[in-house]
Amino acid sequence: MKVLVTGGTGYIGSHTSVELVSQGFDLVIIDNLSNSKIEVLDGIEAITGIRPKFEKLDLCQAEPLDDFFKKNSNIDAIIHFAAYKAVGESVENPIKYYHNNLVSLLNLLEAMRKYQVPFMVFSSSCTVYGEARELPVTENSPVQPAESPYGNTKQIAEEILQEFVNSQDKIHAVALRYFNPIGAHPSSHIGELPIGEPENLVPYITQTGIGLRDQLKIFGNDYETPDGTAVRDYLHVVDLAKAHVATLKRLLNQQNKKPYEVFNLGMGKGVSVLEMIQSFNRVSGKTLNYKVVDRRHGDIEKIWADTSLATKELGWKTESSLDEAMKTAWDWEKQLNKNQS
Ligand code: NAD
Ligand code: UD1
Repeated sequence: MKVLVTGGTGYIGSHTSVELVSQGFDLVIIDNLSNSKIEVLDGIEAITGIRPKFEKLDLCQAEPLDDFFKKNSNIDAIIHFAAYKAVGESVENPIKYYHNNLVSLLNLLEAMRKYQVPFMVFSSSCTVYGEARELPVTENSPVQPAESPYGNTKQIAEEILQEFVNSQDKIHAVALRYFNPIGAHPSSHIGELPIGEPENLVPYITQTGIGLRDQLKIFGNDYETPDGTAVRDYLHVVDLAKAHVATLKRLLNQQNKKPYEVFNLGMGKGVSVLEMIQSFNRVSGKTLNYKVVDRRHGDIEKIWADTSLATKELGWKTESSLDEAMKTAWDWEKQLNKNQS
């Protein structure tokens, strides 16, 4: 089976590429390298022994994309990771986010229709649930107005995808709503490569732990949670990657395919910011320097997933514990800094 992975040199795309190659899928990656490096291919090759085919291409450019599909007419499925993902930047520059995240999707869907590619797996986010009224959230929990243009691109993209597959007889799509992926491949050959100051918690923790940052700022300790800090559902990126393989297998094997499905992907457990720091302290043997500051605008208080649908339908559940995932993030940070010094 030939799979196109868009955004395949990015954080989640690279880990998924490793799992796909290991399971014998034939891959081709498209990425414009706007938020990743070509060297990631070396990492994938070091782990799997296979270097996936790669095309540097901007999905917003319809003509080169069409040429790509003309040359690669035998693609069976697309896993569409490519998007911009920085929430703060999306508030400052919404057009950049709507343009990149939606035009790329529209161009891909047009190519799927034209070249009759039967399956798409789309990267969505738990951000679509906003501040949920009931926890854990199931796939039927209401989608709430987005807090940021980034979040809105995910909501709009899900709607576009659903309407598109409903208009097609032979095209099926699955939207995967990721909770908070963390960590790196245990080999430390690939991992998260934040450009500039990280927005996300775990890279900020590991950069502070290694001395690149002075102090982690905890955004608020006055939430209605057991220790006052905000709660999320963190899962190991390798577990998340494996969910994509399970999703592709379901799409291939299922007899009465539904045109459109949605799955939550998380560990199914709420963890606070302070508990994340404790996990880091345990696996690193360090004591992280932190201080509490005001809440971050647009943050929600708490969210975690009901993952029973993914377990039932995809046969998937997370395997790594929080500490195991955190250890891979720390090993990756140490490896990165060894390379740079
Ligand atoms: P990432 O930035 O590491 O990877 C995305 C990749 O897409 C990058 O390599 C980038 O260069 C590429 N890209 C962006 N726009 C492109 C374009 N127009 N043409 C070609 N390539 C383009 O991000 P990630 O963390 O791996 O996220 C992957 C997907 O998962 C994104 O859609 C993101 O919104 C979604 N998601 C991520 C998280 C998370 O916590 N990382 C959570 C929920 C959802
Ligand atoms: C953020 C995005 C979300 C996106 C996800 C993946 C926001 C508001 N939401 O989710 O849309 O899908 O990333 O990219 O940005 N924290 C600190 N100090 C820090 C960093 C984070 O205390 O320096 C806290 C946050 O307040 C939050 C938790 O750590 O409670 C996790 O933050 P983060 O990793 O940014 O993820 P989300 O906010 O869940």
